[in-house]
Amino acid sequence: MVETLIDKCPRVETERLVLRKWQMSDLDGLIKLNTDPRVMEFFRKRPSAEESESALKRALQRQEEDGFCFPVVEDKQTGAFLGYCGLAIPAYGGPLPFDPCVEIGWQLIPETWGKGIAVEAANFWLGFGFETLQLNEVVAFTVVQNHKSRRVMEKLGMAYDPAEDFDFPGVPVEHPLCRHVLYRLSKKMYLECENG
Ligand SMILES: CC(C)(COP(=O)(O)OP(=O)(O)OC[C@H]1O[C@@H](n2cnc3c(N)ncnc32)[C@H](O)[C@@H]1OP(=O)(O)O)[C@@H](O)C(=O)NCCC(=O)NCCS
Repeated sequence: MVETLIDKCPRVETERLVLRKWQMSDLDGLIKLNTDPRVMEFFRKRPSAEESESALKRALQRQEEDGFCFPVVEDKQTGAFLGYCGLAIPAYGGPLPFDPCVEIGWQLIPETWGKGIAVEAANFWLGFGFETLQLNEVVAFTVVQNHKSRRVMEKLGMAYDPAEDFDFPGVPVEHPLCRHVLYRLSKKMYLECENG
């Protein structure tokens, strides 16, 4: 069998952004992102600088193994690190009710919020995922009360079914950040939307 090797996370430019793989020089940007209380409002832990360094090393390894791991978002004009947005294979230390899956996720510095940056980056990776990687479905999930993130999912045309709400693995059920919502986008839905 002849196997074609494709780069599953190429460096690309969109209207305002550069989307690319992680590199070790992103550490300062990641630490700034992970220690900002506004960014971390819906996360259970605020990683220390050391934990961000370990997370970056894991991301480098996962992008080596899976081909992608929540790609970096950079400002096209200035080259500044804005955060991350894109595809990943979930690795949260416990099975998800909808495994196996490919997830799309995002985390951006607050200075960029509300300008459609997440939607611009995510739209590129959805198109790439369905058209180039031939994925059948991409999912997104967040805590019930993260309305900013849910709005991004809605703007991307993802479908929400309350019957699929779930408790995040390893989080005590009484914890306010336990209950999650799941949004799905199939290749069929994506192509229907694209073709109007
Ligand atoms: C979620 C996040 C990536 C969105 O990035 P962004 O670039 O601001 O997203 P966009 O501008 O593309 O879209 C945001 C939408 O949410 C809307 N929004 C903002 N605050 C909102 C709120 N409290 N409730 C509902 N919608 C809200 C915006 O108005 C916008 O929709 P609109 O264009 O229809 O007006 C960013 O807020 C972020 O990094 N948050 C912290 C990290 C995080 O929670 N990540 C998700 C974890 S699952």
